[in-house]
Amino acid sequence: APDTPSTEALDVTPDTRKVPTELIAREVARRRTFGIISHPDAGKTTLTEKLLLFSGAIQLAGTVKARKSGRHATSDWMEIEKQRGISVASSVMQFEYRDHVVNLLDTPGHQDFSEDTYRVLTAVDSALMVIDAAKGVEEQTIKLLNVCRMRATPILTFMNKMDRETRDPLELLDEVESVLKIQCAPVTWPIGMGKNFRGVYHLLRDEILLFKAGEERADQEFEVIKGIDNPRLTEMFPLEIEQLKMEVELVHGASHPFDLDAFLAGTQTPVFFGSAINNFGVREILNALLDWAPAPRSRDASVRAVEPVEAPFSGFVFKIQANMDPAHRDRIAFLRVCSGRFERGMKVKHLRLNREIKVSSVVTFMASSREQVEEAYAGDIIGLPNHGNMQIGDSFSEGELLQFTGIPYFAPDFFRSVRIRNPLKIKQLHKGLQQLGEEGAVQVFKPVHGGDLVLGAVGVLQFEVVASRLLNEYGVDAVFEGTSISSARWISSDDKKALADFERSSAGANIAFDAANNMAYLATSGVNLKLTQERWPQLTFHATREHA
Ligand code: G4P
Repeated sequence: APDTPSTEALDVTPDTRKVPTELIAREVARRRTFGIISHPDAGKTTLTEKLLLFSGAIQLAGTVKARKSGRHATSDWMEIEKQRGISVASSVMQFEYRDHVVNLLDTPGHQDFSEDTYRVLTAVDSALMVIDAAKGVEEQTIKLLNVCRMRATPILTFMNKMDRETRDPLELLDEVESVLKIQCAPVTWPIGMGKNFRGVYHLLRDEILLFKAGEERADQEFEVIKGIDNPRLTEMFPLEIEQLKMEVELVHGASHPFDLDAFLAGTQTPVFFGSAINNFGVREILNALLDWAPAPRSRDASVRAVEPVEAPFSGFVFKIQANMDPAHRDRIAFLRVCSGRFERGMKVKHLRLNREIKVSSVVTFMASSREQVEEAYAGDIIGLPNHGNMQIGDSFSEGELLQFTGIPYFAPDFFRSVRIRNPLKIKQLHKGLQQLGEEGAVQVFKPVHGGDLVLGAVGVLQFEVVASRLLNEYGVDAVFEGTSISSARWISSDDKKALADFERSSAGANIAFDAANNMAYLATSGVNLKLTQERWPQLTFHATREHA
Protein backbone atom coordinates (compact mmCIF):
# COMPACT_ATOMS: atom_id res chain seq x y z
CA ALA A 1 0.00 0.00 0.00
CA PRO A 2 1.33 3.47 -0.81
CA ASP A 3 0.76 4.69 2.73
CA THR A 4 2.77 2.07 4.52
CA PRO A 5 6.11 3.34 5.66
CA SER A 6 9.11 2.46 3.64
CA THR A 7 11.88 1.94 6.11
CA GLU A 8 13.78 -0.86 4.46
CA ALA A 9 17.52 -0.82 4.86
CA LEU A 10 19.37 0.54 1.87
CA ASP A 11 22.90 0.60 0.59
CA VAL A 12 24.83 3.60 1.69
CA THR A 13 25.22 5.87 -1.29
CA PRO A 14 27.14 9.12 -1.24
CA ASP A 15 24.99 12.20 -1.00
CA THR A 16 24.83 13.85 -4.38
CA ARG A 17 22.24 16.46 -3.55
CA LYS A 18 23.37 19.99 -3.97
CA VAL A 19 21.55 22.34 -1.66
CA PRO A 20 22.60 25.98 -1.91
CA THR A 21 23.57 27.15 1.55
CA GLU A 22 22.12 30.63 0.92
CA LEU A 23 18.75 29.02 0.32
CA ILE A 24 18.97 27.13 3.60
CA ALA A 25 20.13 30.22 5.47
CA ARG A 26 17.20 32.20 4.08
CA GLU A 27 14.68 29.53 4.97
CA VAL A 28 16.07 29.13 8.49
CA ALA A 29 16.09 32.88 9.13
CA ARG A 30 12.40 33.17 8.36
CA ARG A 31 11.32 30.33 10.61
CA ARG A 32 9.84 30.64 14.10
CA THR A 33 8.95 27.54 16.07
CA PHE A 34 7.08 28.03 19.30
CA GLY A 35 4.57 26.54 21.70
CA ILE A 36 1.94 28.10 23.93
CA ILE A 37 2.21 27.41 27.63
CA SER A 38 -0.77 28.09 29.84
CA HIS A 39 -3.04 26.72 32.49
CA PRO A 40 -6.29 25.21 31.20
CA ASP A 41 -8.89 27.88 30.34
CA ALA A 42 -6.43 30.75 30.14
CA GLY A 43 -7.22 31.07 26.42
CA LYS A 44 -4.67 28.97 24.54
CA THR A 45 -7.20 27.54 22.09
CA THR A 46 -8.76 30.93 21.46
CA LEU A 47 -5.39 32.53 20.87
CA THR A 48 -4.25 29.71 18.59
CA GLU A 49 -7.32 30.23 16.53
CA LYS A 50 -6.76 33.97 16.24
CA LEU A 51 -3.15 33.42 15.20
CA LEU A 52 -4.31 31.08 12.46
CA LEU A 53 -6.96 33.58 11.38
CA PHE A 54 -4.34 36.30 10.98
CA SER A 55 -2.28 34.15 8.72
CA GLY A 56 -5.24 33.19 6.62
CA ALA A 57 -4.56 29.57 7.50
CA ILE A 58 -8.17 29.25 8.62
CA GLN A 59 -11.04 31.42 7.51
CA LEU A 60 -13.56 30.64 10.17
CA ALA A 61 -13.44 31.40 13.85
CA GLY A 62 -14.53 28.33 15.79
CA THR A 63 -12.51 25.82 13.80
CA VAL A 64 -9.91 25.10 16.42
CA LYS A 65 -12.44 25.45 19.22
CA ALA A 66 -14.64 22.78 17.67
CA ARG A 67 -11.72 20.38 17.59
CA LYS A 68 -10.98 21.08 21.19
CA SER A 69 -14.49 20.42 22.47
CA GLY A 70 -14.55 17.26 20.38
CA ARG A 71 -11.36 16.13 22.01
CA HIS A 72 -12.46 16.79 25.52
CA ALA A 73 -15.97 15.48 25.35
CA THR A 74 -14.79 12.10 26.49
CA SER A 75 -11.68 10.38 27.62
CA ASP A 76 -12.79 7.06 26.24
CA TRP A 77 -9.90 5.50 24.36
CA MET A 78 -11.78 4.62 21.20
CA GLU A 79 -12.88 8.20 21.06
CA ILE A 80 -9.32 9.33 21.53
CA GLU A 81 -8.30 7.06 18.69
CA LYS A 82 -10.98 8.51 16.48
CA GLN A 83 -9.74 11.95 17.31
CA ARG A 84 -6.18 11.01 16.56
CA GLY A 85 -6.55 11.74 12.89
CA ILE A 86 -7.36 15.27 13.84
CA SER A 87 -4.98 15.60 16.71
CA VAL A 88 -2.01 14.40 14.67
CA ALA A 89 -2.72 17.17 12.20
CA SER A 90 -3.41 19.79 14.83
CA SER A 91 -0.50 18.97 17.10
CA VAL A 92 1.69 20.98 14.73
CA MET A 93 0.28 23.97 12.91
CA GLN A 94 2.40 25.61 10.28
CA PHE A 95 1.40 28.94 8.80
CA GLU A 96 2.94 31.87 6.99
CA TYR A 97 2.77 35.46 8.12
CA ARG A 98 4.79 38.47 6.96
CA ASP A 99 7.00 36.21 4.88
CA HIS A 100 7.81 34.06 7.90
CA VAL A 101 7.07 30.40 8.36
CA VAL A 102 5.61 29.86 11.81
CA ASN A 103 5.44 26.42 13.40
CA LEU A 104 3.07 26.37 16.35
CA LEU A 105 3.40 23.19 18.38
CA ASP A 106 0.45 22.19 20.49
CA THR A 107 1.07 21.54 24.16
CA PRO A 108 -1.97 19.52 25.24
CA GLY A 109 -3.58 20.51 28.51
CA HIS A 110 -6.60 19.38 30.51
CA GLN A 111 -6.91 15.60 30.70
CA ASP A 112 -4.57 15.31 27.75
CA PHE A 113 -1.74 16.67 29.86
CA SER A 114 1.06 14.15 29.63
CA GLU A 115 4.78 13.77 29.24
CA ASP A 116 4.29 14.72 25.61
CA THR A 117 3.29 18.15 26.74
CA TYR A 118 6.64 18.60 28.40
CA ARG A 119 8.67 17.08 25.61
CA VAL A 120 7.08 19.22 22.93
CA LEU A 121 8.79 22.14 24.65
CA THR A 122 12.19 20.61 23.90
CA ALA A 123 11.44 21.08 20.20
CA VAL A 124 10.54 24.78 20.26
CA ASP A 125 12.75 27.84 20.01
CA SER A 126 10.47 30.10 22.01
CA ALA A 127 7.27 29.93 24.00
CA LEU A 128 4.25 32.13 24.44
CA MET A 129 2.95 32.16 28.00
CA VAL A 130 -0.76 32.94 28.23
CA ILE A 131 -2.03 34.07 31.60
CA ASP A 132 -5.64 34.66 32.59
CA ALA A 133 -5.32 38.20 33.97
CA ALA A 134 -8.13 37.53 36.43
CA LYS A 135 -6.32 34.54 37.90
CA GLY A 136 -2.63 35.24 37.54
CA VAL A 137 0.03 32.55 37.58
CA GLU A 138 -1.49 29.06 37.87
CA GLU A 139 -0.08 25.63 38.57
CA GLN A 140 0.31 24.17 35.08
CA THR A 141 1.98 27.35 33.87
CA ILE A 142 4.58 27.02 36.62
CA LYS A 143 5.34 23.43 35.61
CA LEU A 144 5.61 24.25 31.92
CA LEU A 145 7.74 27.31 32.52
CA ASN A 146 10.14 25.22 34.57
CA VAL A 147 10.54 22.93 31.58
CA CYS A 148 11.26 25.93 29.32
CA ARG A 149 13.85 27.08 31.79
CA MET A 150 15.89 23.90 31.30
CA ARG A 151 16.85 25.15 27.85
CA ALA A 152 16.59 28.87 28.67
CA THR A 153 13.82 29.15 26.09
CA PRO A 154 12.81 32.77 25.41
CA ILE A 155 9.29 33.48 26.70
CA LEU A 156 6.74 36.04 25.52
CA THR A 157 3.85 36.76 27.87
CA PHE A 158 0.24 37.53 26.98
CA MET A 159 -2.06 38.72 29.78
CA ASN A 160 -5.42 37.62 28.48
CA LYS A 161 -9.06 38.48 29.19
CA MET A 162 -8.58 42.19 29.85
CA ASP A 163 -12.20 42.63 28.81
CA ARG A 164 -13.07 41.11 32.17
CA GLU A 165 -12.53 42.27 35.70
CA THR A 166 -8.89 41.34 36.21
CA ARG A 167 -6.29 41.72 38.86
CA ASP A 168 -4.21 44.87 39.07
CA PRO A 169 -1.68 44.79 36.20
CA LEU A 170 1.26 45.79 38.39
CA GLU A 171 0.37 43.04 40.82
CA LEU A 172 0.28 40.56 37.94
CA LEU A 173 3.78 41.50 36.87
CA ASP A 174 4.93 41.20 40.46
CA GLU A 175 3.50 37.72 40.67
CA VAL A 176 5.17 36.58 37.44
CA GLU A 177 8.49 37.91 38.69
CA SER A 178 8.27 36.37 42.14
CA VAL A 179 6.59 33.04 41.34
CA LEU A 180 8.14 32.31 37.96
CA LYS A 181 11.45 34.04 38.69
CA ILE A 182 11.60 35.82 35.37
CA GLN A 183 11.97 39.55 34.86
CA CYS A 184 8.98 41.30 33.24
CA ALA A 185 9.30 44.03 30.63
CA PRO A 186 5.83 45.39 29.84
CA VAL A 187 5.57 46.30 26.18
CA THR A 188 1.91 47.25 26.17
CA TRP A 189 -0.02 48.60 29.14
CA PRO A 190 -3.77 48.24 29.62
CA ILE A 191 -6.11 51.21 29.90
CA GLY A 192 -8.79 50.08 32.29
CA MET A 193 -10.26 46.61 32.42
CA GLY A 194 -13.56 44.80 32.14
CA LYS A 195 -16.40 47.05 31.03
CA ASN A 196 -14.00 49.98 31.16
CA PHE A 197 -11.28 48.40 29.08
CA ARG A 198 -10.28 51.10 26.56
CA GLY A 199 -7.25 49.56 24.92
CA VAL A 200 -3.51 49.35 25.42
CA TYR A 201 -0.68 51.83 25.34
CA HIS A 202 2.39 50.62 23.47
CA LEU A 203 5.27 51.71 25.67
CA LEU A 204 7.93 51.38 22.98
CA ARG A 205 6.02 52.98 20.14
CA ASP A 206 4.14 55.60 22.19
CA GLU A 207 0.86 54.59 20.56
CA ILE A 208 -2.55 53.78 21.85
CA LEU A 209 -4.50 50.93 20.36
CA LEU A 210 -8.20 51.41 20.95
CA PHE A 211 -10.20 48.41 22.07
CA LYS A 212 -13.33 47.36 20.26
CA ALA A 213 -15.19 44.20 21.16
CA GLY A 214 -15.93 41.72 18.41
CA GLU A 215 -14.86 38.21 17.61
CA GLU A 216 -14.56 38.00 13.88
CA ARG A 217 -12.42 41.01 13.21
CA ALA A 218 -9.49 40.50 10.90
CA ASP A 219 -6.07 42.09 11.04
CA GLN A 220 -5.37 45.78 11.63
CA GLU A 221 -8.80 47.09 12.26
CA PHE A 222 -8.16 48.69 15.62
CA GLU A 223 -7.75 52.42 15.66
CA VAL A 224 -4.32 53.69 16.63
CA ILE A 225 -3.72 57.04 18.29
CA LYS A 226 -0.19 58.34 18.22
CA GLY A 227 1.29 59.80 21.40
CA ILE A 228 0.11 59.62 24.98
CA ASP A 229 -0.15 63.43 25.04
CA ASN A 230 -2.43 63.50 22.03
CA PRO A 231 -5.34 65.85 22.88
CA ARG A 232 -7.77 63.44 21.22
CA LEU A 233 -7.15 61.00 24.01
CA THR A 234 -8.02 63.50 26.70
CA GLU A 235 -11.17 64.26 24.76
CA MET A 236 -12.14 60.64 24.42
CA PHE A 237 -11.16 59.39 27.85
CA PRO A 238 -10.99 62.35 30.21
CA LEU A 239 -11.17 60.05 33.22
CA GLU A 240 -8.84 57.28 32.23
CA ILE A 241 -6.04 59.26 30.64
CA GLU A 242 -4.70 60.83 33.84
CA GLN A 243 -4.66 57.44 35.49
CA LEU A 244 -2.84 55.97 32.47
CA LYS A 245 -0.19 58.69 32.53
CA MET A 246 0.39 58.05 36.19
CA GLU A 247 0.66 54.33 35.66
CA VAL A 248 2.96 54.67 32.69
CA GLU A 249 5.26 56.87 34.72
CA LEU A 250 5.21 54.28 37.47
CA VAL A 251 5.86 51.46 35.03
CA HIS A 252 8.73 53.28 33.39
CA GLY A 253 10.25 53.90 36.80
CA ALA A 254 9.56 50.59 38.48
CA SER A 255 9.86 47.95 35.78
CA HIS A 256 12.55 46.86 33.40
CA PRO A 257 12.87 48.24 29.89
CA PHE A 258 12.69 45.59 27.19
CA ASP A 259 16.10 44.07 26.57
CA LEU A 260 16.35 41.79 23.55
CA ASP A 261 19.42 39.98 24.85
CA ALA A 262 17.82 39.28 28.21
CA PHE A 263 14.74 37.96 26.41
CA LEU A 264 16.85 35.72 24.18
CA ALA A 265 18.70 34.46 27.25
CA GLY A 266 15.39 33.52 28.83
CA THR A 267 15.84 35.83 31.80
CA GLN A 268 13.31 38.49 30.78
CA THR A 269 9.86 38.25 29.27
CA PRO A 270 8.17 41.02 27.27
CA VAL A 271 4.57 41.35 28.49
CA PHE A 272 1.54 42.20 26.35
CA PHE A 273 -2.02 42.81 27.52
CA GLY A 274 -5.06 41.98 25.44
CA SER A 275 -8.12 39.89 24.86
CA ALA A 276 -7.78 36.84 22.66
CA ILE A 277 -11.47 36.38 22.17
CA ASN A 278 -11.75 39.91 20.82
CA ASN A 279 -8.65 39.41 18.73
CA PHE A 280 -7.20 42.37 20.58
CA GLY A 281 -3.45 42.51 21.15
CA VAL A 282 -2.94 39.35 19.13
CA ARG A 283 -1.26 41.07 16.19
CA GLU A 284 1.20 42.71 18.57
CA ILE A 285 2.18 39.36 20.02
CA LEU A 286 2.53 37.81 16.58
CA ASN A 287 4.73 40.68 15.42
CA ALA A 288 6.87 40.38 18.54
CA LEU A 289 7.26 36.71 17.82
CA LEU A 290 8.51 37.41 14.32
CA ASP A 291 10.66 40.41 15.28
CA TRP A 292 12.16 39.24 18.54
CA ALA A 293 11.84 35.48 19.00
CA PRO A 294 14.82 33.55 17.69
CA ALA A 295 15.01 31.65 14.44
CA PRO A 296 16.23 28.07 14.92
CA ARG A 297 19.55 28.06 16.74
CA SER A 298 22.36 25.59 17.06
CA ARG A 299 21.63 22.37 18.96
CA ASP A 300 23.87 20.22 21.08
CA ALA A 301 24.41 16.84 19.41
CA SER A 302 26.89 15.40 21.95
CA VAL A 303 29.90 15.25 19.64
CA ARG A 304 29.45 18.87 18.57
CA ALA A 305 26.91 21.64 18.16
CA VAL A 306 24.90 21.46 14.95
CA GLU A 307 24.11 24.75 13.18
CA PRO A 308 20.70 25.01 11.51
CA VAL A 309 22.23 26.34 8.29
CA GLU A 310 24.50 23.35 7.75
CA ALA A 311 23.62 21.68 4.46
CA PRO A 312 23.35 18.05 5.66
CA PHE A 313 20.00 17.17 7.13
CA SER A 314 19.71 16.25 10.81
CA GLY A 315 16.98 16.10 13.43
CA PHE A 316 15.58 14.27 16.45
CA VAL A 317 12.34 12.63 17.50
CA PHE A 318 10.58 14.34 20.40
CA LYS A 319 7.20 12.71 20.32
CA ILE A 320 5.58 9.47 19.21
CA GLN A 321 1.92 9.20 18.53
CA ALA A 322 -0.01 6.03 17.97
CA ASN A 323 -1.72 6.17 14.64
CA MET A 324 -5.34 5.69 13.70
CA ASP A 325 -5.28 1.93 13.52
CA PRO A 326 -4.22 0.34 16.82
CA ALA A 327 -4.25 -3.15 15.31
CA HIS A 328 -1.33 -2.29 13.05
CA ARG A 329 0.68 -0.57 15.72
CA ASP A 330 1.47 2.25 13.38
CA ARG A 331 3.23 5.16 14.94
CA ILE A 332 4.04 8.61 13.81
CA ALA A 333 7.35 9.89 15.07
CA PHE A 334 7.48 13.68 15.28
CA LEU A 335 10.91 14.83 14.20
CA ARG A 336 12.25 18.32 14.62
CA VAL A 337 14.57 19.27 11.79
CA CYS A 338 17.79 20.71 13.23
CA SER A 339 19.79 21.39 10.08
CA GLY A 340 19.82 21.16 6.33
CA ARG A 341 16.94 20.44 4.05
CA PHE A 342 14.66 17.46 4.31
CA GLU A 343 13.17 16.22 1.07
CA ARG A 344 10.57 13.57 0.57
CA GLY A 345 12.15 10.34 -0.55
CA MET A 346 15.59 11.14 0.75
CA LYS A 347 17.66 8.59 2.60
CA VAL A 348 18.47 9.35 6.20
CA LYS A 349 20.46 7.50 8.78
CA HIS A 350 18.70 6.21 11.88
CA LEU A 351 21.65 6.61 14.21
CA ARG A 352 20.56 4.41 17.11
CA LEU A 353 19.87 1.49 14.78
CA ASN A 354 22.83 2.44 12.62
CA ARG A 355 20.95 1.96 9.43
CA GLU A 356 19.79 3.92 6.44
CA ILE A 357 16.11 4.37 5.84
CA LYS A 358 14.32 5.88 2.92
CA VAL A 359 11.63 8.28 4.01
CA SER A 360 9.08 8.14 1.27
CA SER A 361 5.97 8.52 3.34
CA VAL A 362 6.12 11.60 5.50
CA VAL A 363 3.56 13.79 7.15
CA THR A 364 4.03 17.53 7.05
CA PHE A 365 1.86 20.04 8.77
CA MET A 366 0.11 22.92 7.15
CA ALA A 367 -2.80 24.49 8.98
CA SER A 368 -4.33 25.33 5.62
CA SER A 369 -4.37 22.39 3.28
CA ARG A 370 -2.41 23.70 0.39
CA GLU A 371 -0.29 21.49 -1.81
CA GLN A 372 1.64 18.70 -0.13
CA VAL A 373 4.89 20.01 1.29
CA GLU A 374 7.90 18.21 -0.07
CA GLU A 375 10.67 19.80 1.92
CA ALA A 376 11.43 21.01 5.41
CA TYR A 377 14.12 23.10 7.07
CA ALA A 378 15.47 23.60 10.58
CA GLY A 379 12.61 24.46 12.90
CA ASP A 380 10.05 22.48 10.91
CA ILE A 381 8.43 19.32 12.19
CA ILE A 382 7.92 16.27 10.04
CA GLY A 383 5.98 13.14 10.90
CA LEU A 384 7.60 9.80 10.12
CA PRO A 385 5.28 6.78 10.04
CA ASN A 386 6.91 3.67 11.49
CA HIS A 387 6.11 0.36 13.14
CA GLY A 388 7.89 0.99 16.39
CA ASN A 389 11.52 1.25 15.30
CA MET A 390 11.66 4.94 16.18
CA GLN A 391 11.83 6.14 19.77
CA ILE A 392 11.75 9.41 21.56
CA GLY A 393 15.23 10.90 21.54
CA ASP A 394 16.32 9.13 18.34
CA SER A 395 18.60 11.21 16.14
CA PHE A 396 18.69 11.18 12.33
CA SER A 397 21.31 12.54 9.96
CA GLU A 398 22.77 12.01 6.51
CA GLY A 399 25.44 9.81 8.04
CA GLU A 400 27.31 11.76 10.69
CA LEU A 401 27.10 10.22 14.14
CA LEU A 402 25.09 12.77 16.10
CA GLN A 403 23.09 12.39 19.28
CA PHE A 404 20.90 15.37 20.04
CA THR A 405 20.55 16.02 23.75
CA GLY A 406 17.99 17.72 25.91
CA ILE A 407 15.02 15.43 25.38
CA PRO A 408 14.27 14.50 28.96
CA TYR A 409 12.06 12.16 30.90
CA PHE A 410 10.31 13.97 33.72
CA ALA A 411 9.79 12.56 37.16
CA PRO A 412 6.16 11.43 37.28
CA ASP A 413 3.59 13.00 39.59
CA PHE A 414 1.10 10.12 39.52
CA PHE A 415 1.65 6.44 40.25
CA ARG A 416 -0.25 3.19 39.85
CA SER A 417 0.76 -0.34 40.55
CA VAL A 418 -0.20 -2.78 37.85
CA ARG A 419 -1.42 -6.36 38.19
CA ILE A 420 -2.93 -8.75 35.69
CA ARG A 421 -5.99 -10.90 36.08
CA ASN A 422 -4.49 -13.73 34.08
CA PRO A 423 -0.99 -14.64 35.31
CA LEU A 424 -0.30 -16.46 32.03
CA LYS A 425 -0.23 -13.06 30.34
CA ILE A 426 2.71 -11.77 32.34
CA LYS A 427 5.01 -11.90 29.30
CA GLN A 428 2.60 -9.88 27.19
CA LEU A 429 2.23 -7.39 30.00
CA HIS A 430 5.96 -6.85 30.20
CA LYS A 431 6.30 -6.61 26.43
CA GLY A 432 3.43 -4.16 26.18
CA LEU A 433 4.73 -1.99 28.98
CA GLN A 434 8.22 -2.09 27.54
CA GLN A 435 6.97 -0.82 24.20
CA LEU A 436 4.59 1.72 25.65
CA GLY A 437 7.42 2.89 27.88
CA GLU A 438 9.74 3.31 24.90
CA GLU A 439 7.07 5.22 23.10
CA GLY A 440 6.90 7.57 26.06
CA ALA A 441 3.26 6.79 26.82
CA VAL A 442 4.07 5.97 30.43
CA GLN A 443 7.06 5.27 32.66
CA VAL A 444 7.59 1.82 34.02
CA PHE A 445 9.41 1.11 37.29
CA LYS A 446 10.39 -2.28 38.54
CA PRO A 447 10.77 -2.35 42.34
CA VAL A 448 14.10 -3.89 43.28
CA HIS A 449 12.55 -6.14 45.90
CA GLY A 450 9.93 -7.52 43.56
CA GLY A 451 6.24 -6.87 43.74
CA ASP A 452 3.97 -5.31 41.16
CA LEU A 453 5.34 -3.04 38.49
CA VAL A 454 4.80 0.63 39.15
CA LEU A 455 3.65 2.99 36.42
CA GLY A 456 4.41 6.69 36.58
CA ALA A 457 2.87 9.55 34.63
CA VAL A 458 2.64 13.31 34.71
CA GLY A 459 -1.03 13.28 33.73
CA VAL A 460 -3.65 10.74 34.84
CA LEU A 461 -5.09 10.23 31.36
CA GLN A 462 -1.86 8.42 30.52
CA PHE A 463 -3.02 5.48 32.70
CA GLU A 464 -6.35 5.20 30.90
CA VAL A 465 -4.60 5.25 27.57
CA VAL A 466 -2.13 2.59 28.67
CA ALA A 467 -4.85 0.34 30.13
CA SER A 468 -6.89 0.34 26.96
CA ARG A 469 -3.88 -0.02 24.71
CA LEU A 470 -2.66 -2.99 26.75
CA LEU A 471 -6.05 -4.57 26.26
CA ASN A 472 -6.48 -3.75 22.57
CA GLU A 473 -2.95 -4.17 21.31
CA TYR A 474 -1.50 -6.80 23.63
CA GLY A 475 -4.58 -8.62 24.87
CA VAL A 476 -3.71 -7.90 28.48
CA ASP A 477 -6.42 -7.11 30.99
CA ALA A 478 -4.48 -5.15 33.57
CA VAL A 479 -5.68 -3.83 36.89
CA PHE A 480 -4.29 -0.50 38.01
CA GLU A 481 -4.30 0.34 41.69
CA GLY A 482 -3.31 3.33 43.75
CA THR A 483 0.05 3.19 45.48
CA SER A 484 1.64 4.89 48.43
CA ILE A 485 4.24 6.48 46.17
CA SER A 486 4.12 10.22 45.82
CA SER A 487 7.21 11.06 43.80
CA ALA A 488 10.19 9.55 42.02
CA ARG A 489 13.77 10.72 41.61
CA TRP A 490 16.51 9.20 39.51
CA ILE A 491 19.67 8.58 41.49
CA SER A 492 23.27 8.98 40.50
CA SER A 493 26.55 9.29 42.33
CA ASP A 494 30.26 9.11 41.67
CA ASP A 495 30.57 7.54 45.10
CA LYS A 496 30.19 3.80 44.41
CA LYS A 497 30.34 2.93 48.08
CA ALA A 498 27.61 5.39 49.00
CA LEU A 499 25.41 3.90 46.28
CA ALA A 500 25.98 0.38 47.58
CA ASP A 501 25.29 1.51 51.16
CA PHE A 502 22.13 3.19 49.97
CA GLU A 503 20.92 0.01 48.29
CA ARG A 504 21.49 -1.96 51.51
CA SER A 505 19.89 0.66 53.77
CA SER A 506 16.24 0.75 54.78
CA ALA A 507 15.67 3.32 52.03
CA GLY A 508 16.86 0.64 49.61
CA ALA A 509 13.45 -0.99 49.81
CA ASN A 510 12.09 1.95 47.82
CA ILE A 511 14.51 1.58 44.94
CA ALA A 512 13.18 0.70 41.52
CA PHE A 513 14.64 0.47 38.02
CA ASP A 514 13.05 2.15 35.03
CA ALA A 515 12.66 0.74 31.53
CA ALA A 516 16.19 1.85 30.61
CA ASN A 517 17.53 0.29 33.81
CA ASN A 518 18.21 3.56 35.60
CA MET A 519 18.02 3.51 39.36
CA ALA A 520 15.23 5.55 40.88
CA TYR A 521 14.00 6.26 44.40
CA LEU A 522 10.24 6.03 44.87
CA ALA A 523 9.35 8.31 47.76
CA THR A 524 6.21 7.84 49.82
CA SER A 525 5.83 11.53 50.64
CA GLY A 526 7.46 14.89 50.21
CA VAL A 527 8.85 14.62 53.71
CA ASN A 528 10.19 11.16 53.02
CA LEU A 529 11.99 12.42 49.91
CA LYS A 530 13.43 15.38 51.75
CA LEU A 531 14.70 13.28 54.64
CA THR A 532 16.24 10.72 52.30
CA GLN A 533 18.00 13.45 50.35
CA GLU A 534 19.34 14.93 53.57
CA ARG A 535 20.50 11.57 54.83
CA TRP A 536 22.35 10.75 51.59
CA PRO A 537 24.21 13.92 50.57
CA GLN A 538 26.64 11.87 48.43
CA LEU A 539 23.79 10.96 46.06
CA THR A 540 22.13 13.20 43.52
CA PHE A 541 18.34 12.97 43.17
CA HIS A 542 17.29 14.02 39.66
CA ALA A 543 13.80 15.21 38.74
CA THR A 544 14.57 14.63 35.05
CA ARG A 545 16.73 12.29 33.06
CA GLU A 546 17.90 12.39 29.48
CA HIS A 547 16.85 9.80 26.97
CA ALA A 548 19.43 7.10 26.66
P1 G4P B 1 -7.62 26.96 26.87
O1 G4P B 1 -7.42 26.48 25.48
O2 G4P B 1 -6.43 27.64 27.42
O3 G4P B 1 -8.16 25.95 27.79
O4 G4P B 1 -8.71 28.14 26.84
P2 G4P B 1 -9.80 28.52 25.76
O5 G4P B 1 -9.20 29.22 24.62
O6 G4P B 1 -10.69 27.37 25.49
O7 G4P B 1 -10.58 29.60 26.62
C1 G4P B 1 -11.21 29.27 27.85
C2 G4P B 1 -12.43 30.16 28.05
O8 G4P B 1 -12.02 31.53 28.12
C3 G4P B 1 -13.41 30.09 26.89
O9 G4P B 1 -14.72 30.29 27.42
C4 G4P B 1 -13.04 31.28 26.06
O10 G4P B 1 -14.10 31.74 25.27
C5 G4P B 1 -12.69 32.28 27.14
N1 G4P B 1 -11.80 33.34 26.68
C6 G4P B 1 -10.66 33.23 25.95
N2 G4P B 1 -10.12 34.45 25.72
C7 G4P B 1 -10.91 35.34 26.32
C8 G4P B 1 -10.91 36.77 26.43
O11 G4P B 1 -10.03 37.46 25.91
N3 G4P B 1 -11.91 37.32 27.16
C9 G4P B 1 -12.91 36.59 27.72
N4 G4P B 1 -13.85 37.25 28.40
N5 G4P B 1 -12.95 35.25 27.63
C10 G4P B 1 -11.99 34.64 26.94
P3 G4P B 1 -15.68 29.09 27.72
O12 G4P B 1 -16.91 29.70 28.26
O13 G4P B 1 -15.00 28.05 28.53
O14 G4P B 1 -15.89 28.46 26.32
P4 G4P B 1 -16.81 28.98 25.15
O15 G4P B 1 -18.19 28.92 25.71
O16 G4P B 1 -16.38 30.36 24.81
O17 G4P B 1 -16.54 28.01 24.07
